[in-house]
Amino acid sequence: MNINFKELANKYQTPYYVYDFDHITKQYEELKGAFKARKSLIAYAVKANSNLSVIKHLADLGAGADCVSIGEVKRALKVGIAPYKIIFSGVGKIDSEIKEALESDILMINVESDAELNRVELIAKELGKVARISIRVNPNIDPQTHPYISTGLHENKFGVDIDTAKRMYIQCKNSSSLDPVGMHCHIGSQLTQLEPIKESIKIVTDLVRNLKAIKIELSFVDIGGGLGIVYDDETLIDTKEYAQAVLENMFGLDITIICEPGRFMVGNAGTFVTKVLYEKVNGNKRFVIVDGAMNDLIRPSLYNAYHKIEVLNDNEEFSDCNLVGPICESGDFFAKNVQLQKTQHNDLVAIYSAGAYGFTMASNYNTRGKVAEIAVEKGIDRLIRKRETFEDIIALEEEFIK
Ligand code: LLP
Repeated sequence: MNINFKELANKYQTPYYVYDFDHITKQYEELKGAFKARKSLIAYAVKANSNLSVIKHLADLGAGADCVSIGEVKRALKVGIAPYKIIFSGVGKIDSEIKEALESDILMINVESDAELNRVELIAKELGKVARISIRVNPNIDPQTHPYISTGLHENKFGVDIDTAKRMYIQCKNSSSLDPVGMHCHIGSQLTQLEPIKESIKIVTDLVRNLKAIKIELSFVDIGGGLGIVYDDETLIDTKEYAQAVLENMFGLDITIICEPGRFMVGNAGTFVTKVLYEKVNGNKRFVIVDGAMNDLIRPSLYNAYHKIEVLNDNEEFSDCNLVGPICESGDFFAKNVQLQKTQHNDLVAIYSAGAYGFTMASNYNTRGKVAEIAVEKGIDRLIRKRETFEDIIALEEEFIK
């Protein structure tokens, strides 16, 4: 990544997110290439970074979209992703979302409970449509990641167990409003171990074969997302080995493989850039206070997540400090007990690997406007989301003041 953070700060002010679109291209091509032996669809998990220009960039490369709300489905459609490349997942879809998804004729709905299947069946019947269904199987496998982003154990709220899934496929087969086309499985995020993925794919493909034996022939297996990235010194899953593990289980099946990577596509493409406001010392604890905060990038506060941090000055005098934002909570920090240089007012601080679940998890807490988002592609920068103003923040309340 060769991005001049200072130039961008002068042009767009701080804080901002900047995304290296060439890195996104590289990630997409690496994963798509790994599956080249098969029909495959890379359905980008829009939740990771749902900026329209980011989705459009991936759409232009050929990606589909994995969406978890009708809003995300609409974002994908808006930038021209074909409906047949869009999947709608999530444990709690509301009726109007199911209706709109069916009317948009997307590829399939990933159903996560038998109650939801009944709802989809009813709504499809009312609309005179046949709903293409994929069922999310919960393989009860520990993905060995952070508990908040682990989803493949029965103790997690996601998917259904194998026996329930089987019953649901039979219900689909017997319904004139449901068409069982796929099977879905996603065990967690920021995965760095291949073994749990292998185990869950084995469980899924065994079920696909079982269903085939009773004449339920699926066309898609959606292996979920979850591929980890480097934040610190993680050893990653090799994408070729990942694809190989998937493909060897598919032997003899005429199946299109879908995967739903979010973080892998955009995580390392993004940097959050903020500037130093002040330094202070309380007792003997040093604090560096910047203009960005937990409302802009909540991962350190929420998951205690590590992001590599660099102060962009030439000072060589490093010491221990907490890097914190202006929000009135002790949980408002980007890093605790890190070695950073002595800073001055307006020094820039780069917080790396912030392209996934950065801006999309941002809020207006403390009436702070969401920051600007910038794309850099082939050395050229462009604004892809304006910084929010005070007027933007109050727009939906103002008329109600009595
Ligand atoms: N598919 C499903 C069904 C998912 O639930 C997720 C992520 C993905 C795909 C994409 O996962 P990825 O490839 O990005 O790992 N906010 C957390 C991550 C939450 C992940 C939620 N589900 C974080 O900042 O680490």
